[in-house]
Amino acid sequence: MLKQIKEGVIISTKDKLDFSKSYWNEALGEDHTSEDYWNNIQGTTQLHTDYDEEIKRLEQSQKQYMERRQERLRLEKIRKKRRNITICVWIFVVLIVFFSVKLVMSQFMPEDQPTNVTEKTDTPTSDIKTDPPIEEEKPKADESLYSQFDFYISENLDRYIAYANANSDMAPDDIVWQVNMSLDKPKFSTDIPASGYDDPYIIVNKFYKVPRDFRPPDLESFDNQLLRKETGEAFIRMRNAASNEGLSIMAVSGYRSVEYQDNLYNSYLQSDSQQNVDRYSARPGYSEHHTGMAIDLFGSTHGLRNFINTPEYPWVKENAHKYGFIIRYTETGEFITGYEFEPWHIRYIGVEAATDMREKQIDTFEEYYARYIQNK
Ligand code: DAL
Ligand code: ZN
Repeated sequence: MLKQIKEGVIISTKDKLDFSKSYWNEALGEDHTSEDYWNNIQGTTQLHTDYDEEIKRLEQSQKQYMERRQERLRLEKIRKKRRNITICVWIFVVLIVFFSVKLVMSQFMPEDQPTNVTEKTDTPTSDIKTDPPIEEEKPKADESLYSQFDFYISENLDRYIAYANANSDMAPDDIVWQVNMSLDKPKFSTDIPASGYDDPYIIVNKFYKVPRDFRPPDLESFDNQLLRKETGEAFIRMRNAASNEGLSIMAVSGYRSVEYQDNLYNSYLQSDSQQNVDRYSARPGYSEHHTGMAIDLFGSTHGLRNFINTPEYPWVKENAHKYGFIIRYTETGEFITGYEFEPWHIRYIGVEAATDMREKQIDTFEEYYARYIQNK
């Protein structure tokens, strides 16, 4: 069946698949020629043609993300309200006790008891010289709106204000963390160097990039994939736990060099527009796979796009945090991450952070990082 892509190129799905097969056979050799691998590639390179839908979907993603955020805010408000009521009750009780004691004491005090007031001098009041009142510099109204959050960064104030003007419905805390993560800027416009090789919370996304020679220090082979040691060991623990429950999880892509990603990304560009490819494949230097802490999974029915339909997906969703993993590109997170939902792509951030992120019901690592890691 023929499909027309935006640039007017007409290409058949079969041609595309044949092209991909020959590309990969030549570029990457025997390991990438299995039927499963091609099912996966075929799935990943599906054509997207409707550009109005793209905008609708991103708007939908933002709406859903913010709805979940509203729900969190609502629960937080209830918790705060309860705490405030408790505090008020305590203050009330203390005041009652204080005034009762005072009242009782005053009953027993003689009326003409001298008070402890210092004697007045007879200096005429007009001669009293008072220092001019020190004018305290009042914080700008806009600033206090944002500076109340401990992840506030003062240099970003003008950007918070501009971003708030462009997003009038957004809560101030969302404004602050999103600007801190450069979400007020166009994607690929910042190229902020990703943090050190050893940072367990390293962020690599469309704003944070690794250099071409980036290679993590302690890569080892796990399940035939190169992963950082701690990530690989955690993955094996998770895979064994799943296996004990009769499930089969396999790592099919771990560490990727920048060069490898370059080939992969360009191969997709042969048959799809850049706008579409950017939704499912990272540009070289911008892939989390460079860190050796991201893994793509197959379940018992192979294929990345099949993963969501396997019994392994709900298991991973419920249990990954116990081994330090998060599902990195969530259903609602596209307007933050710039990637469509990838249920198969997990990222190691350690048990503590993964569990905390789950408890706080935060959908993207960008938000968790900005709120709880970046400024600490
Ligand atoms: N598919 C993910 C976004 C990557 O290419 O890194
Ligand atoms: Zn991946």
